[in-house]
Amino acid sequence: MHKFPKLIEELSNNNQFDLDHYLDSGVPWTKLNIDVPEFDQNVFDQAVEQSTNWRQQWLFTNDNEHIEVDYQIKEWNGQVLFGPADWDAWVKFAADKQKANDEDRLCMLHRNDFKFEWRLNVDHPIRQFVEKLFPNPQDINIVNFYVLPPGGYLFPHVDPTQGARALNKIYIPLKWSEGNEFGFYKWGNLPIVERNAYLINNYRYAHWVLNRSNEPRVVLDIGANLHTIKDLIEDSFKQA
Ligand SMILES: [Fe+2]
Repeated sequence: MHKFPKLIEELSNNNQFDLDHYLDSGVPWTKLNIDVPEFDQNVFDQAVEQSTNWRQQWLFTNDNEHIEVDYQIKEWNGQVLFGPADWDAWVKFAADKQKANDEDRLCMLHRNDFKFEWRLNVDHPIRQFVEKLFPNPQDINIVNFYVLPPGGYLFPHVDPTQGARALNKIYIPLKWSEGNEFGFYKWGNLPIVERNAYLINNYRYAHWVLNRSNEPRVVLDIGANLHTIKDLIEDSFKQA
């Protein structure tokens, strides 16, 4: 039987994975062990019918953003699938706060100040997929589609937050034809495989997207309480 000093013995016995430490470690992305089903075109069409245009919802127009974005964003858009229920009240509330904190963080910060709800019907397969990951709706802050048509792009940017510049959102490329890119400045392109799931740090590093393919690119974005999937994140990290 080996004998070790008390300090190292105790550390060895009590050393635990700390989720916040890992998320804030500076890793730009990590692949998550999540099985993502294949959704057929109907599922996408129904989601678009049941939800709302992202940039319109957030009043993201060049006028409202007060910056020259027309050359930086080409045709990037999406749908809000889960978010604040009274959208007008929310936009009024959030309008002057979006420069300091992006929509994910605002929804997280004010998750209990507003009623949040699904835009998708109860039996919609994408809603069911997200609810399986996060059974308690209180753990979900926002769910979006990010849609980028052929030739679309989004210039390099760092999303604003006053919180930790840490791994943040779950990013699931549902439709990702060859020719699409997600670049992370100085880290190279994310090695994306369609229907894999990633956790990305959009708060610390500049990132951009572009679509060189001839198909629309669709990403499912989930902002949620990552502590409820701590074991999944830990297992994914250890297997990576
Ligand atoms: Fe971003």
